Amino acid sequence: MKIPEKLVAQLAAAKSVTVLTGAGVSAESGVPTFREAQTGLWEKFKPEELATPRAFRRNPKLVWEWYAWRRELVAKASPNPGHLALVEWEQLFPQFQLITQNVDGLHQRAGSKNVIELHGNITRTKCFDENRVVSSWADTSDVPPKCPHCGGWLRPDVVWFEEAMPELEMELATQASRTCELFLSVGTSTIVYPAASLPYLSLKQGATVVEVNPSPTPLTNEAHFILPSAAGTALPALVAVIKAARGI
Ligand code: OAD
Repeated sequence: MKIPEKLVAQLAAAKSVTVLTGAGVSAESGVPTFREAQTGLWEKFKPEELATPRAFRRNPKLVWEWYAWRRELVAKASPNPGHLALVEWEQLFPQFQLITQNVDGLHQRAGSKNVIELHGNITRTKCFDENRVVSSWADTSDVPPKCPHCGGWLRPDVVWFEEAMPELEMELATQASRTCELFLSVGTSTIVYPAASLPYLSLKQGATVVEVNPSPTPLTNEAHFILPSAAGTALPALVAVIKAARGI
């Protein structure tokens, strides 16, 4: 993989870096993405039947079981070289912020410390009525299980379509995108807003924007550098060139 000299120089000198990840960063761990032909989840399933509050009200069992299946997939998956490289990125820059749209928790399992989760986390469960996160509930045959506090249905703690983004996370992500020198967008189709707006905030502030994605996205024409490779190849390669340029 060819990494432009200019990009290496900018990365080696950068003090503040923000990274946004999407489903592509977990693809090499065997977690399916959403929109890729053949393999994407939204190619096989309809989001309006599985990932909206209305869908849950209509068929809570179906939605609970679909997320239980995904939770199992995630539990069996392991962080890949892309996740592991981002743990190193955290140590390479004085200011570093990792923002993810992924709900799989693989960045944290790899060892990343400071992760903003924009779309929640599939391993957490919360009450549908009261939004309260719960960690245990009675082991009955109810599907979905019932909230131990109010008796309402439990649901995964992820952001569904038609739902608001978590306020604090969005504010921190916006701030990190507005103030960084270099923004890296990895493995996201850059079409789901408001997460997709973040690289454009960086561009507006004059930051260098880099995209790592084997396929073009709406950001591709705007980004300063494009690395059309898999995250598991590009991210470790970037770590290596940054270290070499800094003599470490
Ligand atoms: P998408 O499935 O929309 O896009 C995945 C992107 O990853 C595509 O652009 C692929 O080309 C790229 N890709 C695939 N393999 C890759 C690899 N090995 N390395 C790097 N890139 C690779 O997933 P997201 O952009 O994350 O929201 O989707 C955004 C949101 O839409 C998700 O968070 C989810 C979904 O609906 C919610 O569930 C709220």
